[in-house]
Amino acid sequence: MSDMITIALSKGRLADQALDLLEASGYDCSAAREKSRRLILEDEKAGLRFIMAKPADVPTYVEYGAADIGVVGKDTLLEEGRQLYEVIDLEFGACQMCVCGPVSLKGKLDQIPNKRVASKYPNITRSYFEGTKRESVEIIKLNGSVELAPLIGLAEVIVDIVESGRTLRENGLDVLEVIADISARVIVNRVSMKMKAQSILPMLDALRAQLAKQKEQKCREEAAST
Ligand code: PRP
Repeated sequence: MSDMITIALSKGRLADQALDLLEASGYDCSAAREKSRRLILEDEKAGLRFIMAKPADVPTYVEYGAADIGVVGKDTLLEEGRQLYEVIDLEFGACQMCVCGPVSLKGKLDQIPNKRVASKYPNITRSYFEGTKRESVEIIKLNGSVELAPLIGLAEVIVDIVESGRTLRENGLDVLEVIADISARVIVNRVSMKMKAQSILPMLDALRAQLAKQKEQKCREEAAST
């Protein structure tokens, strides 16, 4: 008999795309599509249980084994620094983690001493400035609308994700430095990977095969349109 697999999804856009991919890979996800406020959605026949979590908590559920598998952004993984296996780059949810600030600071970031940096990602910010750049900065933790900070004089710059760049543009800000490329990742609990290998490995293979198929199809469509 195959194991029941618990999958932690990040509530929101990533969850829908993860479910689309799982379904295209041959897994029945109708239980998780239910429009309700239930946070645990189980399909005994399909052998799948979904938990709908806040994105920042997905790595926690997976590290402790409350979930076997998770789908979460690389930004959250970098920030949380949990003990788990990161096994597949799903390539959707693509964006960049950047240092952003007023356009007037372009190329001049290193000239400002003792900078204040506002971010929802204090660990990524610390590791970038203190680890990579060997520079000490004051980190101000915010919980959203981080672009406000340089506009209102709370901080000189911010560390945040940039997707389309629209939020920056509409607030007169720009990317000053790129820290990392971000996209959705599949993560697996370290014990589950061994104990439930019989169910988890075929699922990972099916996801990889489906991703390769989608990529191939996209290439073919692009070639046909040129
Ligand atoms: C995220 C991020 C930026 C914005 C980037 O914010 O923190 O503010 O999206 O996207 P863009 O480059 O396409 O404009 P989110 O919408 O998650 O809200 P928040 O600011 O409240 O965190």
